[in-house]
Amino acid sequence: MEAIPPAPPRILIVDDDDSVRDVISVLLREEGYNCVVANGAEMALDVAGEEETPLVISDMKMPGRDGLWLLENLRERLPDTSVIMLTGYGDTESAVDCLRRGAVDYLLKPPKLTDLIRAIERALAKRRIEMARKRYQKKLEGKVRDRTAELRSALHNIANTYQNTLLALVAALDAREHETSDHSQRVVSYTSAIASRMGIHGKQMEEIGRGALLHDIGKIGVPDAVLLKPGKLTPDEWLEMRRHPEIGFQMIQNIPFLSTPADIVLSHQERFDGAGYPRNLQRNEIHIGARIFAVADTLDAMTSDRPYRKGTTFANAIQEIKRCANTQFDPDVVKAFLDIGEEGLIRIKKEMAEKKLNPLQAAADAAEAETELARLTDLDDETDSPPVGPASSAVASPLPGAPPVAIRSASGTEG
Ligand SMILES: [Fe+2]
Repeated sequence: MEAIPPAPPRILIVDDDDSVRDVISVLLREEGYNCVVANGAEMALDVAGEEETPLVISDMKMPGRDGLWLLENLRERLPDTSVIMLTGYGDTESAVDCLRRGAVDYLLKPPKLTDLIRAIERALAKRRIEMARKRYQKKLEGKVRDRTAELRSALHNIANTYQNTLLALVAALDAREHETSDHSQRVVSYTSAIASRMGIHGKQMEEIGRGALLHDIGKIGVPDAVLLKPGKLTPDEWLEMRRHPEIGFQMIQNIPFLSTPADIVLSHQERFDGAGYPRNLQRNEIHIGARIFAVADTLDAMTSDRPYRKGTTFANAIQEIKRCANTQFDPDVVKAFLDIGEEGLIRIKKEMAEKKLNPLQAAADAAEAETELARLTDLDDETDSPPVGPASSAVASPLPGAPPVAIRSASGTEG
C-alpha cells in the first residue's frame, strides 16, 4: 500500500489589494501550497481560526485593522501560527517592530517568488521545530507528573509505615511500664487540647504531638530493674532513670522530620523554674511543646491507676497542677489547661478509651501519615529546633510541688 503524502500546509494570504493577493496565491498554489485568502485583518483572523493554519502572510498597511493588529491578535489567539509580514519599501522601522512583536520574517513588497518561497520554508521549518519542542516538553511534563505521583505514593507508604512503627513502639513501651498501652496517646490528646487553646496549629501542632507521643522513647535504654521497680528508687537508680530524655533524643534526632520532636523529647523532664533535668533549662528556654507536655503528662499520671495505687480525681489533679504553676509548670500553659475545664479533660480521656482498638484509629493514623507526606513533598527544610549542646546530667531535687498521691509519672517524675 502506498503511503499517503502529507497534506500541503495551509497558508493564508492577507492583502486589501486584490491583484497582489491573487498573484501570490496563484504562484504559491503552483508551488504546491494550499492557499486561502482574506482581504483584511479581521476576516483573516476568522479564516485562520477555521482550521489549522501554520502560516499567515500579511500586508502591513491595510485600511481599518492593519497588519500589526492582525499579528498581535494571532499571537494571542493562535500562537502556533507563524506570520510573515509584507512591508513597503523604506518602511524598515515598522518591519523591525513586526519582528519584535513576534513575526518570524518580513519581506519587501512586491516579494520575489524565490525570496517568498525561501521565507515560507524557513518559517515552516522553524515552526516544525518549535512544535516538536512543545510536544517534547508536554511529554516530559507528563512523565514528571507520573513520576511525582509514584514518588508521592511511595512516600505515603513510607510515612504510613513509619507512623505505624512509631505507634507500635510507643505502645510496647507503654505496655512495659504501665500494663496499659494508651498512656502516650492519651498524653498526646491532652497536649494537643492545651496547644490548641494556646493558638498552636498546623506543622507546629503536629511536631508537638509527635514529641509528646515519643517523650519516653528513651526508656528503652532503662533497665527493667529500675523502670519496673515497685518501691522507691535509690539515688543511683534515679541517675539511671534520668538518662532517658537524652537516650530518646539520641535515638531520633537524626531522623529529618523528627528533629523538633527530638528537642521536645530531650526537654520533657525540664521544669519551668529550672529544677528539672537533664539541662536545668528554665522558662522559655524549654521548648513550648515540652512545657505543654509537662502539664499533660502530670495530669495523666495522677488520674491513671497504677498496680500499686489508684488514680486520683481530675478535680484533685487540676488543683495540684494549678498550685504548681510558676514552679513546675509554665503559668500560660496552666491557664490554657484550666480553660479546658474538668469536664473537657474527662471527655478527652473517655474519647481516647473509646478510640482504643477502634478501626477508625487506623484511618486517623493514615491521615496523619498523609499530612507528614505533604510536608515531606513540600521539601521545606525549615527545622526550627536550635542546636543542642552536650547535656549535663544534673540531678534534680525532688519536686517541691509533690502531688497528694504517690506518683512516679510516666516520665519518671518523683512524687
Ligand atoms: Fe519521661
